[in-house]
Amino acid sequence: MSDFQYIKSNKYTDYDTIYKQCSGPGGLQLAEFMAEKMGLAPGQKLLDVGSNRGFQTCFLAKEYGVFAVGIDPWDDREQGNPMVDHLQANARQWNVENAVVGIKMGVPDTHFACYAFDAVYSTTALEMVRVSQGIQGYMKCLKEIYRVLKPGGTFGLGEPMHLDVRIPSDLEPYVSQGEYPWKECFRALPETTELVRSAGFDIVEAAHAPHARQWWMAFAEHDPFCKQTPEEDPKTLAVDGGRWTSFGYIIARKPL
Ligand SMILES: C[S@@+](CC[C@H](N)C(=O)[O-])C[C@H]1O[C@@H](n2cnc3c(N)ncnc32)[C@H](O)[C@@H]1O
Repeated sequence: MSDFQYIKSNKYTDYDTIYKQCSGPGGLQLAEFMAEKMGLAPGQKLLDVGSNRGFQTCFLAKEYGVFAVGIDPWDDREQGNPMVDHLQANARQWNVENAVVGIKMGVPDTHFACYAFDAVYSTTALEMVRVSQGIQGYMKCLKEIYRVLKPGGTFGLGEPMHLDVRIPSDLEPYVSQGEYPWKECFRALPETTELVRSAGFDIVEAAHAPHARQWWMAFAEHDPFCKQTPEEDPKTLAVDGGRWTSFGYIIARKPL
C-alpha cells in the first residue's frame, strides 16, 4: 500500500456531497492523486475531459491554481439540464468562477486549437466511449487529446480497470449487467497503456491506484445511485471483494 497522503482532498469530508457531485470512485481523492502524479502547477491551462458536474474541476482550480476548462457532452439524467451548467454553479460555490469554464462538448469533436493546453485530465469517462464507439472511437479521443496538448504537456488518464486476471466465475453475472457492463467497460492496464502509447504519448507511469478498493467502497457507500440500488454496483463490489475490479491510472507526456 502506498504512503500517498491526501493532504488537500482530506479537507473536504462531506462524502455524501462529494459522491453526489462526482460520478464514480475516488471523488476528490482521485483528483488529488492524479494532480500530484501529473505535477499540476499554478497558472497551467488544464482541460478536464468528461468533467460531469465539475466538482473535481473546481477542486483542481482551487487547490492547484490551474485555469480549468471542463468539457462534457451530456445532460443531467434527472433534471435534464447540461452537466456544464452544474459545473458553472459549482464554480460559483467554490469561488473559482474566474478560473473555470464549462463547455458542452466531448472528445473527439472539440474545437480547440492545437497545443491549447498544458495538461489534460480525464477520469472515469473514456471507458464509456470505448463501449459505445469501440477501440477506434476510443483512439480518436486519445488522438484529439494529443492534438490539443502542448508539446511536453501531460495527460493524466484515470479509469476503472480490472486486474490482469480472468473474471471469477461467481462475479461474471454481476459484471455483465446494465447499460455499460463492467466487463465491456473495464480493461486491463497493459491494454489501455498500449493504446495511449500508440496515440503518440510517452508513458511516464502506469499502475493500479493503491487505494482503488477504498475508492470503490466509498463509491458504494456514498454514491446516490448506489444507495438507491444496493443490489447493483454495491452488490457487485461486495461479490468482487477486490479480486478483479480496480482503478488504473496512466501519466503520459506528449513528446517535445
Ligand atoms: C462518470 S462521469 C465522471 C466524472 C468525473 N470525472 C469523475 O471522475 O467523477 C463521466 C462523464 O464523461 C462524460 N462523457 C461521455 N462521453 C464523453 C466524451 N466523448 N467526451 C467527454 N466527456 C464524455 C459523461 O457525460 C459523464 O459526465
